Amino acid sequence: MIPRKKIPRDLCLDNTLKLLSEGYFFITRRCKKYHSDIFQTRLFGQKVVCLSGVEAAKLFYDNNRFSRKGAAPKRVQKTLFGEKGVQTLDGAEHQHRKMLFITVMSPDRTDQLIKLVKKQWQLKSKCWEKKEQIVLFDEVQILLCEAACRWTGIPIRPCEAKYRAQDFGKMIDAFGAAGPRYWQGKCARKRTEKWMEAIVDKVRCNQLAAPVGSALYEITWHRDLNGCLLPTEVAAVEIINVIRPIVAIATYITFGALALIEYPECVKKLRKKVPSYPLMFVQEVRRFYPFGPFVGARVRKDFIWKNYSFQKGTLVLLDLFGTNHDRRLWFLPNRFIPERFQNRKDTPFDLIPQGGGDAKEGNRCPGEAITIELMKASIKFLANHLDYDVPCQDLRYSYVRMPTLPKSRVILKNIRRIAATNK
Ligand code: HEM
Repeated sequence: MIPRKKIPRDLCLDNTLKLLSEGYFFITRRCKKYHSDIFQTRLFGQKVVCLSGVEAAKLFYDNNRFSRKGAAPKRVQKTLFGEKGVQTLDGAEHQHRKMLFITVMSPDRTDQLIKLVKKQWQLKSKCWEKKEQIVLFDEVQILLCEAACRWTGIPIRPCEAKYRAQDFGKMIDAFGAAGPRYWQGKCARKRTEKWMEAIVDKVRCNQLAAPVGSALYEITWHRDLNGCLLPTEVAAVEIINVIRPIVAIATYITFGALALIEYPECVKKLRKKVPSYPLMFVQEVRRFYPFGPFVGARVRKDFIWKNYSFQKGTLVLLDLFGTNHDRRLWFLPNRFIPERFQNRKDTPFDLIPQGGGDAKEGNRCPGEAITIELMKASIKFLANHLDYDVPCQDLRYSYVRMPTLPKSRVILKNIRRIAATNK
């Protein structure tokens, strides 16, 4: 019998503080140090195995070997995910709930959302012309929040959109935080859940009409495997699970705007309207800029992989950021090169900013098509329909803060709308 290999150990009483101080590089650095795609350490007071790379991603998304039950820390559930949402389910229950999301995000429904977002860009840019300058990230969060609420069937008054968008933003901003940022995220979630619960109750009492096919309708009337409606709190969590990540796309759009500033040749290419270019640009934004650092799951039952032994219950983290920058997969991974996606055949396990594997069968993000289409529409609008000046500002972003953003959140000045035909 071949003797088992020992998983390299990053010995330390607990590495949680190091994770917070090294951010997106925490897993990659140790993989480099141990010349290994796998190492073991202690995080959040428990033993954790960290994995990186395409082979590791294939393993991680094998549902027979990993389970999501008990994987997401309570602090993440109390801010980013919400409790008892799809992310915390497993097996048949997860599959059934996941289909709800897939239905709500059908290609037809996605088209409707993109139309709403395009309309919002038109409307908002008219207002921006009257302002001396705007903070793009803040404006895009509001714009997406309004479009996402309309699309899901959630009534929202224009004066409400700003603070609701800020609350969605605070939940996202809290995922890698301790201290005040965590508390702000937790309070924002409480407020938003209360708001959504009241809406679900109104729909169920026929006091509010939800358009058939909308997320509000489908989630409110969804029945679990036992034929029961979801408890109001869970329905609210799942509606937030649709709107919050749409608002989160503001981060990618802001990084996309940064790329347009830092690589002006990309603006020229977008203006040439080569049909394949917007997708390549968007894929590179999702690969290159840091957003989701890693995902976690627990070992379902003991197994051996590459002669390493995995024990039931162990928490395992897969490095999303590191895999998207892996030299074995990406030529010059630390350079922004949209053309790398020309003729590239991605597998479900190499470009994984929103998780890997299959969205229907597994835990991959069901909102990837929405993210890509919405980014394409937004980046095309920025490049082809707007002229603006970029004042002096701090556009640097940290690799330690999770999630991160350009420090100035991208300030644009003297915005002018341009008729598409002029470009
Ligand atoms: C900013 C863009 C987005 C990013 C970076 C992102 C990232 C992710 C990641 C990393 C996961 C976990 C994958 C895993 O566990 O293996 C995930 C899951 C999920 N995402 Fe997204 N996502 C985005 C946009 C969206 C959108 C637009 C929606 C819906 C409208 C959405 C809905 C969900 C849901 C419901 C899950 C849970 C899936 C499950 O547990 O099976 N996401 N996302």
